[in-house]
Amino acid sequence: MLVVGAGTMGSGIAQLVAQSGISTTLMDADSGSLERGLEAIASRWQRLVDTGRRSPEDIAKFRTNLSSGTMADAADADLVIEAIVEKIEPKTALFQELAANAPAKSIFASNTSSISISTLGRTSGRPDRFLGLHFFNPVPVLPLVEIVRGLETSEGTLAASLKFVEAIEKTPIVVGDSPGFVANRILLPMINEAIFTLQDGVAPATSIDEVMKLGMSHPMGPLALADLIGLDICLDIMETLHSDFGDDKYRPAPLLRRMVGAGKLGRKTGQGFFEY
Ligand SMILES: NC(=O)c1ccc[n+]([C@@H]2O[C@H](COP(=O)([O-])OP(=O)(O)OC[C@H]3O[C@@H](n4cnc5c(N)ncnc54)[C@H](O)[C@@H]3O)[C@@H](O)[C@H]2O)c1
Repeated sequence: MLVVGAGTMGSGIAQLVAQSGISTTLMDADSGSLERGLEAIASRWQRLVDTGRRSPEDIAKFRTNLSSGTMADAADADLVIEAIVEKIEPKTALFQELAANAPAKSIFASNTSSISISTLGRTSGRPDRFLGLHFFNPVPVLPLVEIVRGLETSEGTLAASLKFVEAIEKTPIVVGDSPGFVANRILLPMINEAIFTLQDGVAPATSIDEVMKLGMSHPMGPLALADLIGLDICLDIMETLHSDFGDDKYRPAPLLRRMVGAGKLGRKTGQGFFEY
């Protein structure tokens, strides 16, 4: 299978699939990002050995299942998972290019957090063999995959994807195609409200996160979670919820826009609501 986009999510998906014994190719439009993605996988695998959770022999086997590639590798892929920027134009252009290179029978999946699967499916020219496979961050750790069924996704595509998700030992939950699906329709407005709360000076970032951890039993606070997701991704998701629902309750917090404008994107840039 082919994973396109070697960032936070693509590198996690490629790692997980390779660990499951499935031959996996990872590609990225940017060679530096591809290199960083492969290095991130290598260092996570090393950590598994260092902490005694996997043997060096296991890791050697995983490595043989993973390679770096290019668009030409779509020709051999029965499944392509896209994990590039959360914007509809580059995703559409990518799926059109993939459609020209991949066999007609191969299934295309998007890891999008919020963009319509039915729309992406139509523009890919294979709406029946198109669906959302929405993984969670960090991919090797969190058990869920939201399977998003577009209006035209076929029964065969759904059945094949359920089999795939079970093969990689994740738990699938099938949901409908609606902005943000289930997870991000609920999670992102909460994160956005935490940012409004910070912007309004109600409490400092550490206190806001502690309230949600100690009072609500959340494993991490919403601002630390925003930093983990990436503030650019959070803003893109809020923009999609806002425009697709046409409801101002989803307007992104101005502070979120300012942070993204300043290049403070969270963990991936070393600075977000907290420092890393
Ligand atoms: N970050 C999260 O917590 C999270 C969780 C679930 C889903 N997602 C979704 O996963 C997708 C990727 O998010 P991410 O956080 O991994 O982003 P990221 O910024 O870490 O990585 C994106 C990668 O895509 C590459 N890229 C951009 N355009 C490309 C193209 N046309 N062809 C090939 N590669 C291209 C970039 O070089 C970069 O390496 C988004 O749709 C996002 O909404 C993110």
